Amino acid sequence: MTRSQHPHLTSSLTLRGTTLRNRIVFGAHTNNMSDMGLPGPRTLGYIAERARGGAGMIVMEPVPVHRTGVLTRGNYLHGTDDIIPHFRKVTEAARAEGAVILQQLYHIGAHGDSDLSFQPHWSPSGHASYHDSDGSHRMTEAEIEELIAAHIAAAIRCQKAGFQGVEVWAAYHSLLDQFWTPWSNTRDDQWGGSLENRTRFSRRIIDGIRRACGEDFIVGLAVSTSDAHDVTLSVEALTEIVALHDATGQIDYVTCGHGGYLDFERLMPTFLFAEKLTAPVTEILKGAVKHARITSEAHVRTPDNAETIIASGQADMVSIVRGQIADPHLAAKTMDGRASDIRACISCNQMCWGRRSRDYWISCLINPSAGREWEWGGDRFTPAETPRHILIVGAGPAGLEAARAAAERGHRVDIAEAAPQIGGQFRLAGMQPRRAQILDLLDWYERQFARLGVTLHLNTFLDDSEIANHPADTVILATGSLPDPDAKQRWLPALPRLPGLENGNVWSAEDVMRREARLGDTVILYDEGGNWRGVGTAWHLAEQGKKVILVTPDPYVGKEITRTSADAPARQRLAKLGAQFLTEHVITRWHGNGATVRSGLTGAETTIPASALVMATTNVAFDPFPETFAGKQTHRIGDCAAPRLAAYAFHEGRKLALTL
Ligand SMILES: Cc1cc2nc3c(=O)[nH]c(=O)nc-3n(C[C@H](O)[C@H](O)[C@H](O)COP(=O)(O)O)c2cc1C
Ligand code: SF4
Repeated sequence: MTRSQHPHLTSSLTLRGTTLRNRIVFGAHTNNMSDMGLPGPRTLGYIAERARGGAGMIVMEPVPVHRTGVLTRGNYLHGTDDIIPHFRKVTEAARAEGAVILQQLYHIGAHGDSDLSFQPHWSPSGHASYHDSDGSHRMTEAEIEELIAAHIAAAIRCQKAGFQGVEVWAAYHSLLDQFWTPWSNTRDDQWGGSLENRTRFSRRIIDGIRRACGEDFIVGLAVSTSDAHDVTLSVEALTEIVALHDATGQIDYVTCGHGGYLDFERLMPTFLFAEKLTAPVTEILKGAVKHARITSEAHVRTPDNAETIIASGQADMVSIVRGQIADPHLAAKTMDGRASDIRACISCNQMCWGRRSRDYWISCLINPSAGREWEWGGDRFTPAETPRHILIVGAGPAGLEAARAAAERGHRVDIAEAAPQIGGQFRLAGMQPRRAQILDLLDWYERQFARLGVTLHLNTFLDDSEIANHPADTVILATGSLPDPDAKQRWLPALPRLPGLENGNVWSAEDVMRREARLGDTVILYDEGGNWRGVGTAWHLAEQGKKVILVTPDPYVGKEITRTSADAPARQRLAKLGAQFLTEHVITRWHGNGATVRSGLTGAETTIPASALVMATTNVAFDPFPETFAGKQTHRIGDCAAPRLAAYAFHEGRKLALTL
């Protein structure tokens, strides 16, 4: 692929006299990396890597403008100039790398987090929070003025810190959106009622920022669209509001996201959702503005999608957030005509939103350097002092990443895989419904191996003596894990084996995805992990027309993917396909043609007829090898060290390769 394949995306654009080197924005997202409310080395490394990676514009994580807007543990300090010198280090680093850098300013109004703000929530009309279970109060005139002043003061601080502009946050039913939306603004004073009154708060903020920060300062406006609930703004209402703000000529760009506090699963859309989600709406917004440029965000993901959006006139810029978390050099690779080298985000949300939602700093499942740039030297490699010959046994996530990273450092790498294809269990995950982005990632590894000269030996099961006699000086065992042959259940800890296992027709999730299970019509799937291994396998079976009864000891199906905001959409799909859920139950006996299940709440037992039982329980490490191989450094990574989610396998593969 050459640069000319993305000519619109890679063309420059000028905002308020400041030129962006391309149309790729690294949009605002809370990375939760601050140290005591200040950007430290983790933040600096993370942002600088994306600037070095070619992003045209970076909109940094929002700073709450006021004590009542604090939402995360990692939120930056509000209301103090103490942040200025710390942010200056970040803006200088980003600008030195050629990126334009802005900061988002936010206030969440009713949707606060009392655990973190220890403040009552403020909102236009005292609505309920959709973030926690609290309520809010109707702001007084004085409080409204206080928040307008707080937005302007925050923008001035941004300018002093070297940001080239700010993005005013009116997306996702934030405070500004709460004023705009008649459902959440029922005021009858100068702040409610007519369109002019409902937009007074946002217009006062924008006027104030423009006046305080001058004509050269970029001012963006973040909005969002969703049709999940009819109480939020319609596209027509949003377009009217955007046009009204645009008419003053003070807004330089409008960026449009997807979903909001009422439908969070759409905000960071997982693979369950379509791509290019806001392009139809940004096309309408583009037709309604005379001055502002329009940015399309939400699941743009790849340069090809981005080029299509811009070339077809649906937007002037694109925001690619998770795409640049997964590959910080996405923009530079696109500019250089190397788009096929981009490690494309797999839309899983597991380590980005999945960590933010639990209030940790964010990372990435497939790019373990995200958030560790400061300690790992970015998503880049330094040549090894002493090149080694490394044998890697197993081409699942841990082995693949170790092989790639070791080869990047100049080591000679052989990787042996017993199966006919690379990927291990991760390939099986890629065969679940809508998860083919995982298979694309495996293709990417094959392309990288070809580029780096990694020797891949498929259909190659190595035993002890073959490993011992291999000429490599270093052995990395990445042999993964296997389903538990005894089908033990975590919540029946005293039972070493599933009673009735010998009756047959019991399979693992892996057997199912490998198409090796003979299941009949009615399948009980016992899921104790609460993640995609069980849920995705159940979905695969339900799509095949099986009657699926998903039994879980958890209080609801997909408990562990709640952190990714994918659990509710996954349950909806399963339910629409006729799957039944039996929560807070364990399996006490398998009969060969049905299972006795026990309620964790009452202890009552029932028997359910079924032609097969599929167990998605904790795997056991596959490690039949001696502790060390004489004369060779021996390492163990990934599931063979302890069965876990794929993220930790990728992490260990990279981490080990950086030390060799
Ligand atoms: C971890 C994480 C935190 C986010 N925090 C914010 C935020 O603070 N403000 C905001 O406007 N959008 C936030 N977003 C939404 C992104 O800006 C973007 O709209 C969303 O990720 C979809 O775009 P993408 O598909 O390119 O990732 C966040 C996204 C992620 C993944
Ligand atoms: S964790 Fe998943 S969704 Fe998030 S950036 Fe990485 S690949 Fe994309």
